[in-house]
Formats: sequence, structure tokens, C-alpha cells
Amino acid sequence: MISDNKTAQSECLPTHIGIIMDGNGRWAKMRGLPRSAGHSKGAAVFKTVSRYCRDRGIKYLTVYAFSTENWKRSEQEVSGIMNLLREYLKDVKNYTKDNIRVCFIGDRTPLDEDIKALMEETEKTSENFDAMTLNIAINYGGLPEIANAARICAQKVKSGEMSVEDITCEEIEKHLYTAPQPAPDLIIRTGGEYRLSNFLTWQSAYSELYFCDVLWPDFNAKHIEAALSEYAGRNRRFGNA
Ligand code: IPE
Ligand code: IPE
Ligand code: MG
Repeated sequence: MISDNKTAQSECLPTHIGIIMDGNGRWAKMRGLPRSAGHSKGAAVFKTVSRYCRDRGIKYLTVYAFSTENWKRSEQEVSGIMNLLREYLKDVKNYTKDNIRVCFIGDRTPLDEDIKALMEETEKTSENFDAMTLNIAINYGGLPEIANAARICAQKVKSGEMSVEDITCEEIEKHLYTAPQPAPDLIIRTGGEYRLSNFLTWQSAYSELYFCDVLWPDFNAKHIEAALSEYAGRNRRFGNA
């Protein structure tokens, strides 16, 4: 569905949106349901929102699905989230008509082998889809991502491929999970918390931040439009006068 005010705002549309999809647990608790019910509803909302962003002309969407800190949760909750990811990955193959390229960012090492295989398959199947690129952050943390880039640079210096002076911002950026994509113009966080919780730490240096109280399972097109409209009114100076 394409919104009516698309033309009016198109010149101020963010190229890349990041979303911290927070509030699933509280949504479930308010209804006397297990946290897993919030995650299921959240997964359905994620599918709707990614298609909506594609239709709205957004070129890159990065969603925070599981952080490097989320392993601290109960085993039951973690395996529930991993199962939802499995279901999504099995299903996404059937959505070739979505024309959405799917990429995963984060450290895959500790994930189950079948999930890793499905992730690879999904990336491969969708690599030429060009309506929008969807980055799904799984076992993702902005700080470990920077540490990983630093390790790659150190290796390159050690092997003589480059010198210490070659470690510039551009060089570090080349080794981030999101390379060579542009940084997010707008980061939306649902659930009423005013923090980034290790999301796109490097890439968010100049992002516009938008926090809303609505819990992720209640998030819909109207809320995206509110964020887009606020973004369109922001003055991005990048340090200029
Ligand atoms: C976000 O919702 C989903 C994940 C972190 C996986 P939460 O599960 O953090 O929901 P709240 O913040 O506890 O309500
Ligand atoms: C951030 O939410 C991670 C995801 C949405 C996947 P959290 O609920 O984990 O963040 P904190 O703990 O409130 O900072
Ligand atoms: Mg939370």
C-alpha cells in the first residue's frame, strides 16, 4: 500500500531506516500472555512493516531482532525467538514476489547449524532482489561489530597489506557488517525506552532518532508515517552552520 502523501514527502524520505523493535514482552504481559506470544505477534508485525517500507520507497531497512545481550534471557524465551526465526526463514523463500533482498548482520557463530544454513540460503536466493534491502540483526551488537572491524584492520597491518596510518574511518567502515550500505538516516525505537542498546553504534553517528511509546506488536503504518513526517521536518546539519 502506498500512502497518499508519498509525493509530498518523497524528497525528504530517509534512504535507510533502522528499527529497534522493542516492547514484545510488555505487550504480552499486559494481556496476561507468555512473552512468546508477544514475540509471535511482533514477528507478524515485522513482516507487514518491512513490506510497507518497501512500498513506501525506503531502500534499506535494518531491524534489530536479537542482540548480543539477549542471550541473558531464559533459555525458553531464547529458543522461542530462534524458532520464530526458523519459521520466518523457511517461509521467506516463498516470497520471491516481495522483491526484497534479505541480509543478516551480526555474529552467526553461536547459532544453530540449520539456522545458519537457512540464513545463507535466504541471502543467496534474494541477492538480486532490488526493491529494498532488509538487514536483519541477529546476535548483533554495535560494539562487537566495531571490535571485529578493528581485528580485521590489525590483521591487514600484521600481514603487511596496509600500514597503521591506513586505519581510517573509511577503512573501518569497509569491515562493518553493513558495508557498503549507507548509514541509517532515521532510527526508530518503539517501546518507550530512550536508548540504542548497542544498535548500529558506529553507523548511527549522524542518524536522526525517533522514539515512540507504542509497543512493537501494536506498531503499524500510521506510526511509520508519524516517524517519516517528523523526519521530513528535521534539519540535518552534519556539523554545518
Ligand atoms: C523486543 O521486545 C524483542 C527482543 C528483544 C528480542 P522485548 O522482548 O525486549 O520486550 P520488552 O522490552 O521486554 O517489553
Ligand atoms: C533491544 O531491546 C534489542 C532488540 C530489540 C532486539 P532490549 O529490550 O534487549 O534492550 P534493553 O535491554 O531494554 O536495553
Ligand atoms: Mg525490551
